[in-house]
Amino acid sequence: MALRRCASLLAAQRLQFAAASAAPAFASSSSAAFSSGATEISSQQQQQQQQAQQQQQEQQQQPGADEEANTADFGFREVPRAAKAGLVGEVFTSVASSYDVMNDLMSGGLHRLWKDRLVETLRPFPGMRHLDVAGGTGDVALRVLAAITAAESEAAARAAAPASAGPAPAPDAAPEPGHVTVCDINGSMLAVGRDKAARAGLLGRTTWVQGDAEKLPFPDGCVDAYTIAFGIRNVTDRGAALREALRVLRPGGRFLCLEFSQVTVPLLRQAYDAYSFAVIPRVGQLVAGDAESYQYLVESIRRFPDQEAFAGMMRAEGFQAVTYENLTAGVVALHSGFKF
Ligand SMILES: C[S@@+](CC[C@H](N)C(=O)[O-])C[C@H]1O[C@@H](n2cnc3c(N)ncnc32)[C@H](O)[C@@H]1O
Ligand SMILES: *[C@@H]1O[C@H](CO)[C@@H](O)[C@H](O)[C@H]1NC(C)=O
Ligand SMILES: *[C@@H]1O[C@H](CO)[C@@H](O)[C@H](O)[C@H]1NC(C)=O
Ligand SMILES: *[C@@H]1O[C@H](CO)[C@@H](O)[C@H](O)[C@H]1NC(C)=O
Repeated sequence: MALRRCASLLAAQRLQFAAASAAPAFASSSSAAFSSGATEISSQQQQQQQQAQQQQQEQQQQPGADEEANTADFGFREVPRAAKAGLVGEVFTSVASSYDVMNDLMSGGLHRLWKDRLVETLRPFPGMRHLDVAGGTGDVALRVLAAITAAESEAAARAAAPASAGPAPAPDAAPEPGHVTVCDINGSMLAVGRDKAARAGLLGRTTWVQGDAEKLPFPDGCVDAYTIAFGIRNVTDRGAALREALRVLRPGGRFLCLEFSQVTVPLLRQAYDAYSFAVIPRVGQLVAGDAESYQYLVESIRRFPDQEAFAGMMRAEGFQAVTYENLTAGVVALHSGFKF
């Protein structure tokens, strides 16, 4: 029930292209539950608005037009408009492509396997409500959505199959289609992801919301699962992020976190250290023209709590049945916990 309510809240949420800092100006948002100042980079409503904008003259009379006009100053409104016209801003394209290229380069393509493992562990199901935090350009979210739709097609095929022998099974009530919400603190990343979703025809099944993992702009208990991939390392107050994850999960909901961790085998560890300190910043310089960020990346990985320590933090914040799996000898760990 709570889930359905949440779904309709998500659907009812008005478009707000306001930076978090401008939130007080939009306290009249249609959904009180979402009044915490996040920017939603919305789908259908936005398309409707864009159509309205193309027709121009009516826009000022529409309810909420004032809000739209105001919010134009605060960031990302240009992006979805451009996306619709198929003219993604060069800036965002270059951020996206360098981001995606770097992911592949730095991990030797392994990040794909790590993300596959996350989705496999998650076991998405028909009608699933999923939240991907620090979702960036939506790489994980779109994988989860693909798995949800695959599960839905499978369920539909099973339901449609002619009963062979024996009594026909009671048909399941057709569930509402699943939905994935991507939340990230960086609107440029979200805009790129949203454009990717638009091109794939997936806007209706995704929601793109600018917000902080430490203060999620979502109601309690509204998602079946929460993932955060290569994001929690950059969160200042990780305890707060974990508490927020617990809060938005429904009882029985699952938390999965993919993050760089500590390599298990000593010899491998030395090789990995040598690789990451010597190679990664240089490749960063070459490909992205930015050695510093990649130096930071390598250092922040070393500073992040190891597998047991992070599992301990999860337990301390109230997660149950906490486990983790070392991937690629602990280069990455997949942490899991439940809200009961
Ligand atoms: C390395 S990217 C990971 C993106 C995506 N999860 C993936 O695996 O491809 C890290 C993301 O975390 C986001 N991020 C950092 N701090 C955050 C916070 N406090 N709340 C939400 N997102 C945050 C960044 O904006 C960035 O998009
Ligand atoms: C968002 O991310 C992009 C790509 O990593 C970065 O260039 C930009 O500075 C970030 N913006 C903010 C506001 O952090
Ligand atoms: C998060 O990332 C930014 C930019 O890369 C960095 O300046 C900041 O110190 C990071 N925060 C944490 C807690 O790692
Ligand atoms: C994973 O790696 C950590 C640190 O390298 C090691 O201490 C731990 O025993 C490993 N745990 C599992 C479950 O494989």
